[in-house]
Amino acid sequence: MRWAVFVSGTGSNLQNFLDLERKRILKKHRIVLVVADRPCPAIDKAKRAKKEVWIQSPKSEGFSKALLKALKAQRVDAIFLLGYMRILSEDFLKSWKKRIVNLHPSWLPQYPGLNAIERAVQADEDFLGVTLHEVVPEVDAGPILRQISFPRDRSLSLESLTEQVHAYERKLVTEFLLDLERLSS
Ligand code: GRF
Repeated sequence: MRWAVFVSGTGSNLQNFLDLERKRILKKHRIVLVVADRPCPAIDKAKRAKKEVWIQSPKSEGFSKALLKALKAQRVDAIFLLGYMRILSEDFLKSWKKRIVNLHPSWLPQYPGLNAIERAVQADEDFLGVTLHEVVPEVDAGPILRQISFPRDRSLSLESLTEQVHAYERKLVTEFLLDLERLSS
């Protein structure tokens, strides 16, 4: 399976996927394209792993057409949004229906949108969570594919809790990809 990973930031989740591929833990899944809306540390990680990269703001003219062309050129089968901070157009989503997965740092449907961890902490939740879901035009609302929830350690700062959420995100994505790998064997 040939994946395009979309990123906007640090790329810790991209790095996790790259590591699984490099260590041959994943044999049937590989990243063939990394797409970003801006130059960012995730792109440096992609380049270090010698991955093809494509950087363009969705606000630029001809974005959708050029993106579709880039995905086609790399014969991409599916798209993983790992920290991509943009909303993709309805037309684009339609043409990739059921083939785009998004990672979100909350137990959806709770706390869709931005600053999900902070909002869950402010609401004094006993549990935090992470979710993988199919992408539909409504933000963070598509069918849920896999989730993990865990008790909130009240002694931890928001910063440490965020790190903990990121660790669970890596676990979630790893388990998801390993399941896909098993299904296709
Ligand atoms: C993750 O928390 C992801 O769930 C959210 O953005 C963050 C990306 O982190 N959508 P990174 O760029 O993978 O380090």
